[in-house]
Amino acid sequence: MTLEVRDILMQADRIFVRDSLWEVCQKLAQRGKRVHSFQPLYQTGIPLGTLYDFMANILIESCLRYGPVVYALPGNPFVFEYSASLLLNKASQAGLSVKVVEGMSCLDTIFCTYQLDPGGGLQILNFIDWHQHGRLDPEMPSLIFQVGAPIEREFSQSGAGYLSNLERLDHLLAKTFPQGHTVYLLTPSEEDNQQLTVSGLIGSLPKKLQHHLTLYSTLLVPPLRWFQ
Ligand SMILES: C[S@@+](CC[C@H](N)C(=O)[O-])C[C@H]1O[C@@H](n2cnc3c(N)ncnc32)[C@H](O)[C@@H]1O
Repeated sequence: MTLEVRDILMQADRIFVRDSLWEVCQKLAQRGKRVHSFQPLYQTGIPLGTLYDFMANILIESCLRYGPVVYALPGNPFVFEYSASLLLNKASQAGLSVKVVEGMSCLDTIFCTYQLDPGGGLQILNFIDWHQHGRLDPEMPSLIFQVGAPIEREFSQSGAGYLSNLERLDHLLAKTFPQGHTVYLLTPSEEDNQQLTVSGLIGSLPKKLQHHLTLYSTLLVPPLRWFQ
C-alpha cells in the first residue's frame, strides 16, 4: 500500500472491508483500529451480485447516518473489485461524494516480476467466466485471475474444490496448448509481502499445483513464442 493509503486508514474512524483475510486487517487490528468485515456474508450462499448490492447499501446508509467511512479493498479498487463501481454509482445517486485512492495492484508486481508489458498485448481473464468457454489466443500472454475461486456448489477449501478447478483448467488449456507447455501459478506469500511462483506443465497441473492453489492465486499462461 502507499503511504497515502496508510495515513487514510490510520486516521479513519470507521473502516469496512470486504475480505477480513486480507493481511492488512490484522495489521490494523494490531494498531488498535476497529475493522468491520463483510466476510461472513460470503458464507450465506447469497448470489455475489446481490451481496455486493447489499454491501454498498450498508456503506451508504452508514455514511448517511453516522458520517464518512473508509471502504478498504486490496490493491487497486478497480481491478477485480466489483463492489467498488457499484458503490460509486449508489453514492452518486444518494448525493454522497467518494474519494478513490488506489493502492498497488497485484498486476504491478506481476508486470515487474515477468517484465510483462501489456503494451505488447495481454489477455486478462476471470476464471469464474472463462472456465465456461476456455477460449485463449495462444500468441498472447494470459493472466487468469481467481483460479482458486469457488465455482462448484460443493466447493470446499479443504482441497476438493481446488483440485476440480485445476482439472478443469488443465483440460481447457490442453485444447489450445501442447502438453508440457509451462505455466506459472502466482500466489501471495502468507509470511511476508512476497509473491510466490510455482511452475507447472499442461497435462499435469492438478498434481503439481494442488497444494499451492489458494483463493488469491493467478495463473500466468505464457504465449507459445516464449518457448520457441
Ligand atoms: C478480488 S481480486 C483483488 C485484486 C486486487 N484489487 C488487486 O488490485 O490486486 C483477487 C484476485 O486477485 C489476484 N491476486 C491478488 N493478490 C495476488 C497476488 N499477490 N499474486 C497473484 N495474484 C493475486 C488473484 O487472482 C485473486 O483471486
